[in-house]
Amino acid sequence: MHIVLVGMMASGKSSIGKVLSKSMNIPFLDVDKEIEFHEKRSIKSIFENSGERYFRKLESKIIIESLEERKSMIIAPGGGAFLNAVVRKNINEESISVWLDVNIETIIARVKKNQNRPLIEKKSDQEIKKIYEKRLKYYEMSKIHIDCNKKTKTECAEEIIFKIKNIGINENN
Ligand code: S3P
Repeated sequence: MHIVLVGMMASGKSSIGKVLSKSMNIPFLDVDKEIEFHEKRSIKSIFENSGERYFRKLESKIIIESLEERKSMIIAPGGGAFLNAVVRKNINEESISVWLDVNIETIIARVKKNQNRPLIEKKSDQEIKKIYEKRLKYYEMSKIHIDCNKKTKTECAEEIIFKIKNIGINENN
């Protein structure tokens, strides 16, 4: 069974995904990196030159195709992917979705350090908060909820493994 990490930008999907991948010995797929590899340009450049619609199409395609792979993977899509109803349905049918819940103050502090997020590039803290609030109801549709506040990435990964075991799915599947 695949594991898909869901959550706002900078919630730790890639870093926790890598830890999880190591501990569970399951390959890790970073969807943004995969998109950049296929397009031979950055996410920022895709947004700027081809627009968000183009990016979302590619993103959905890569996620849906990855979910079709028989061999289990830890998949980390960008924070907007789970908002799409078709993508969300696929994820929830074909994987264990795990929401990495991080408070908005921490998210804002983290995104300010990294200028590579075109969707919020020129946005105020209040605007970023609005995006987050709009998205919460979707993130809450994940199968597993991990409160990542005040936890290290290792602690979050351990909690994910514990919760997966508890819902009766063998991590080696
Ligand atoms: C986005 C999140 C980004 C990236 C793109 C759009 C979003 O990934 O896919 O900039 O809509 O939340 P991260 O969640 O890894 O920052």
